[in-house]
Parts: sequence; structure tokens; C-alpha cells
Amino acid sequence: MLGQPSEHGAAGRESTVPNRVGENDKGSSNQGASGQGDGRRDREKQRFWHGFANMANVTSADEVVIVRGEGCEVFDRGGRRYLDATAGLWYCNVGYGRQEIAKAVERQMRELPAYSTFGLYANEPALELCERVSRLAPVTDARVFLTCNGSDAVDTAAKMARRYWNQVGKPDKQVIIGRDLAYHGMDAYGTSLAGISANAQGYGPLVPGVAQVAHDSVEALADEIERQGPENVAAFIGEPVIGAGGVYPPPDNYWRGVAELCRENDVLLIADEVITGFGRLGRWFGCERYGFEPDLLVFAKGVTSGYVPLGGVVVGPRVQEPFWSGSGVAFKHGYTYSGHAAACAAALANLDIIESEELVDRVSAFEPQWAESIFSLADHPLVEEVRVVGLLGAVDVSNEELEARPGLVEEVVANAREEGILTRSLRGAAIHLSPAFVITKEQADALVAGLSRALDGAQEGASPAPATPERSGDDRLE
Ligand SMILES: Cc1ncc(COP(=O)(O)O)c(C=O)c1O
Repeated sequence: MLGQPSEHGAAGRESTVPNRVGENDKGSSNQGASGQGDGRRDREKQRFWHGFANMANVTSADEVVIVRGEGCEVFDRGGRRYLDATAGLWYCNVGYGRQEIAKAVERQMRELPAYSTFGLYANEPALELCERVSRLAPVTDARVFLTCNGSDAVDTAAKMARRYWNQVGKPDKQVIIGRDLAYHGMDAYGTSLAGISANAQGYGPLVPGVAQVAHDSVEALADEIERQGPENVAAFIGEPVIGAGGVYPPPDNYWRGVAELCRENDVLLIADEVITGFGRLGRWFGCERYGFEPDLLVFAKGVTSGYVPLGGVVVGPRVQEPFWSGSGVAFKHGYTYSGHAAACAAALANLDIIESEELVDRVSAFEPQWAESIFSLADHPLVEEVRVVGLLGAVDVSNEELEARPGLVEEVVANAREEGILTRSLRGAAIHLSPAFVITKEQADALVAGLSRALDGAQEGASPAPATPERSGDDRLE
């Protein structure tokens, strides 16, 4: 299924498909009519508004239109091959081109694409998926609420936590504490809870009753709970490893300390496993790696490997109790596509692949080699720090250089693309790495070689600087 490593060569130097953008063919894969000399008319025809982009800088000549994927590689409309260093946006864990998932979705769509799951209704794939996720998740006797994506799952968990406290007679417990550098999606709740301030600017007040603490300090959380008053704090939310904020693993014993603190103060613990869930850290879930059991576990991305959007919340016994026991109460919340049958069929086929190919164990076994490859970039003069955990990585660019050239990471990203490597900037400070679980050692080495040349290019300042969004410097992704 994977492209032959040799086809990559040194990130495509020897490939039969030209990976590196040649001198004359910059943008040959980009199909804007700009080559036809009528840029303005072409601009008027553009309709697709890209996320996290300044559309004043994205012409159709700049767009990279991806048409196909196979394993860890994707191809653009001009046939150019790229090694996808990020598995899309941290999701395509089983790799591209999995016919089993496509077939499962097709089968389900022919039978029943979707039906309401409000009230009494359910469908077979949703029932089976919730059963399976509850067995896999490190949450005792779990129940599962399905959503459309990670942002909705964060919103669901936050609302569920507050609704829980209201139902058990503690309606003042409303504050939810998050962390600096955290990313919890782009719904209003997630934007409010997250710790990447650039993403919350320009809206005025979003969701009230949120607070942020340092991402690496149990004491900071203890102080904030104290400051708010435990009687006002509903929950604490955190990613086992911070992802979009720059791939920051927790300090030793951080999560055990947080779990204990939350227990002592009667604060619910929400683990946002949208990136770390389903194997990314070499365990099914990040909580297992760090030895704690959350009250609520948020998932998305890896549950379907992104073949179809789907997310959800795994709910532990404490939070279930007032909703499921005694006379119960309706949780007046749900999405049109909660439990979408075709999305759940995709998830089941994806989990089949992860299990039958033992991909979680593969990530765990591959981690040392992955780390060795990525850490070899640490010696580059433009690199400040490298962080690796599981099959995640981030390469921080020199702070000093960044001060002088704020668009430096975006420059490296653009150079990398010309080397046949697709990656992106995390907060304008780091290069994002989270390939599919099926990446080979040869591909990891090719990735490092391509990144190293991309860094060289930025160091020499030799690369041309077309006005791509990555180069504009003010479009920091997430
Ligand atoms: C930790 C975390 N939570 C939530 C989300 C939001 O997920 P989605 O983009 O599917 O809404 C993301 C997305 O990157 C994430 O990384």
C-alpha cells in the first residue's frame, strides 16, 4: 500500500515524479488561470475561503490542490508527489488510499447514510462504534456521546460538565480551566478555553467563565482553583500532549498530580484526546501513557483517520449518573449528524485496520527511530529545540532569528514544500510533524533530509519568496 521508499529518494530527488519545484515550473501544479494572464478575472472566480488564511494573499495560482493520497504521500493536481509530514491535520493515521474504509462507507451509504439519533433512534454502526470505543477507552464503564468533529466534542464536554454540576445541585460550579498553548478547536467554547491568544482576538467576549493556567505546572492549577474557589470550578481541560500549541509533552508526573488535585477539589477532569487518541502516542489513548483516568475524554480525528468527519466524548460513571440513573434528565444537546451511520462505518473500518495491523504497537516500537531521525535536526543552526513524543514532533526555529524574521517558519514550510515535504507552522514558531502511523524509517529519513534542506534554504535566505500565505508571516496557523 505504501509508496516504495526508494521512490522518495532524498525527498524526491530521484523520483520519477518531479517532487522539487523546478526553476520554471513554480506553480505548474497550481491551476489558476493566472498563467493565462488574466489574474483579476481569475481572482473573481475564486469561491473557496481557506481556513486560517488571509485570502488577500491566496490567489488560485498559490493554491495547492491535493487530488489523491497513498500511504504517507499525497499528490497535487499537477501530479507532483509530496510526503505528508502531518497526516493532514493530525488525522490520517492509517494513511491514505484505504479501500476497506471506502468500501465500508459505500456499503453503509447504500443501506442507510444517516438517520436521526435524537430521542429513541439509533443505527447499527453508531451502536457498534460506541460499544467499541467504550471498550478501548481507559474510562471505567464508559458511555459515548457522538459529535461531528473535535470542536463539537469539546463544546459537548464543556456543556456536559456544567450541566452535570447543575443537575447534582451545585449550579455555581461553572468555571472551566484550560492551559496556555492549548488548542481545543474553533467553536466558541473551544476558542475561549484555548491558550493561543491570537485565535481569540477580534471577537470581543466569547464564552465567559474560563481561565488559563501554565501548561506545565500543577501548582499553577492549584492556585487558580483556589483563586476561583473550588465551589465555582466545574472542570479542568487539557491535551495529554499539547498539539497545535507546539507539541509539548507534560513534565513527569504532571497528569497524575492534576488528576489528584481535581479529585481533591471536586473538579471534573476532561482529557482532550482529539490528537492523541487512537494510537498517536503508542497507546490507544494518551491518558494511558500518563497514568490517569479522566471523567470525560474528547476524541475525533484518529477515530476515522479523517476519512469522514466524526468526534465524540467518552463519559465516565460519575458524569453519567444523574443523566442515566433514577428518574434521569435529558441532556438537551446533540447534532444533526451525531452518530451519522456512514461516518460510524468509516470509524469501524478504521479501527479494524488499526487493530489488524497492530498500528498502536507499531507507533510504540517506531518511536525511538522516529525520535532519532527528528532529533538529528537539532544541530541545525536555525533550530532552537526539537520535541518528540509518540509519533508527534515539533522543530522550534531559533528565537533570535525569529525576532529578526517573523515569517521564518513559514519560509521553511514553503521551502519544504518545494522539497516535496508537506508540513506547516505551529504558532509561527515551530514546524509540525505527525505523519501517518505507516511511515517507514526511510520515509522518516527522507523527511528529515528534506526539512534540513528547507532550513538550509532559509538560512541562506536563498529561496525566492513568492507571496504564498506561508510566507506572509501574519497568517500563523492555529
Ligand atoms: C486537541 C484538539 N482539540 C480539538 C480540536 C478540534 O477538532 P476539529 O478541528 O475536528 O473540530 C483539535 C483540532 O486540531 C485539537 O487538536
